[in-house]
Amino acid sequence: MAGTTMMTTKMMSSAPGMTPGQSVTSQPPQPSTSLPLRTIPGSYGWPLLGPISDRLDYFWFQGPEKFFKNRIEKHQSTVFRTNVPPSFPFFRVNPNVIAVLDCKSFAHMFDMDIVEKKNILVGDFMPSVKFTGNIRVCAYLDTAEPQHAQVKNFTMDILKRGSKVWVSEFLSSLDTMCYNLETTIKEKGSASFLLPMQKFLFEFLCKAFVGADPSTTPEIAKSGHFMIDRWLALQLLPTVHVGVLQPLEEIFLHSFSYPFFLVGGGYKKLQNFILEQGKEVVERGQKEYGLSQEETVHNLLFTLGFNAFGGFSLFLPGVINRVVSDETGLQEKLVKEVREKGSQGLSFDSVKEMELVQSVVYETLRLDPPVPIQYARARRDFQLSSHDNVFDVKKGELLCGFQQLVMKDPKVFDEPETFKPDRFVGEGKKLLNYLYWSNGPQSGSPSESNKQCAGKDHVTLSAALFLAYLFSRYDSISGDSSSFKALVKAT
Ligand code: HEM
Repeated sequence: MAGTTMMTTKMMSSAPGMTPGQSVTSQPPQPSTSLPLRTIPGSYGWPLLGPISDRLDYFWFQGPEKFFKNRIEKHQSTVFRTNVPPSFPFFRVNPNVIAVLDCKSFAHMFDMDIVEKKNILVGDFMPSVKFTGNIRVCAYLDTAEPQHAQVKNFTMDILKRGSKVWVSEFLSSLDTMCYNLETTIKEKGSASFLLPMQKFLFEFLCKAFVGADPSTTPEIAKSGHFMIDRWLALQLLPTVHVGVLQPLEEIFLHSFSYPFFLVGGGYKKLQNFILEQGKEVVERGQKEYGLSQEETVHNLLFTLGFNAFGGFSLFLPGVINRVVSDETGLQEKLVKEVREKGSQGLSFDSVKEMELVQSVVYETLRLDPPVPIQYARARRDFQLSSHDNVFDVKKGELLCGFQQLVMKDPKVFDEPETFKPDRFVGEGKKLLNYLYWSNGPQSGSPSESNKQCAGKDHVTLSAALFLAYLFSRYDSISGDSSSFKALVKAT
């Protein structure tokens, strides 16, 4: 309780965009006129040399977290100029960004009056549109483009209509996965869950989101998740720190884009699968949302494969890892809550009652945000505030926020480096205004006029369902971020 009071006092006195005593809101921060105006520190260095030196620091000598942390210390500011990869020699991009690394400055990226989001999902670099059927899919559209509202509303409509199927398909595919993992543990003593989890995710997402059953198409059932993995990897490799031996990673993964034709065959098969098996949803996109068949199919594939499959594949292993690494008796508490609140069966409604389960999900998203970086381009000149200063930003400049550091903002989160499973319980729910994994606050609502993740609530509720299912089936689990060593069945 004392901790909760301390946290509340802290938020009331120094949360972003707020004056003491003001209540917490999810509104983007207003420039604080009382803060001193400062020129944005940092520079982009010499042409070519500056970007390549920053790229090598980012991928090789420091790694992303240290890269941003070192520069905060050097400039004594959470807002500064730097370069981010990809860059020299073979990418035609502008690597110059303004880093925004505290909760207050980061939140400017949600205000669509002052920023735009055209073609900057992964920064100034954009993978070829060949990866998405020569169409700029929703995630690359700005809110000022009419297609954004069409596609986003279509996506949110699918999710809204299909929530019940979503839950039943999720639980049924998860049940199969757990059964198979138990068998493997009995035979081998442990079981890697990464590929089984991807298979479960692919199967459930196809059925729940597109109404398409992979088991009707043997090749898709067997290899659909691999096809998506390869398609994702080729789009993202130039921007991702993989950890392969250097300089091999720099030479082979970060120096050029891989062409679409390497994964074109698999993509075509997935496209045909959606067209044939997801007919009803594809027709709805055309009839009710005025999209062409091409726009509908490629947007569905992108949301299913990139947003949902990609996001969950990174996120759910992180949830398991946090739970199995805990040494404070978290599993017993989860078991108790799940069995008390889920006795009538598991559903989105029942997991909404499970405060601790939800808080574990939020705390994992805070410390291990699956999409680590967000970008936004200044739509016009404006003033950007950090906790300490105000800065002038010019139209066209690119903001870049690295979530891992933003979510450890000591002015918002007590003991920011520590995984506190109950951080978001009770009064702690106010902190949801500062949980930004979805490109918006967890207390906000995705809509056609913003760029917040359309699946925001489905993501957190599904992860809560995942945890609740595990602790209704098992008394305890042990393992790590990629495998289970023991799954002790509920007695
Ligand atoms: C753990 C899973 C997920 C994570 C971490 C995640 C994260 C995100 C993030 C960070 C963005 C904003 C990207 C940006 O503009 O900078 C986003 C956008 C989006 N997400 Fe998710 N997402 C997840 C799952 C889903 C699911 C399940 C769906 C729907 C089935 C979905 C649909 C979308 C769509 C359509 C957008 C584009 C929104 C727009 O353009 O306005 N996502 N997601």
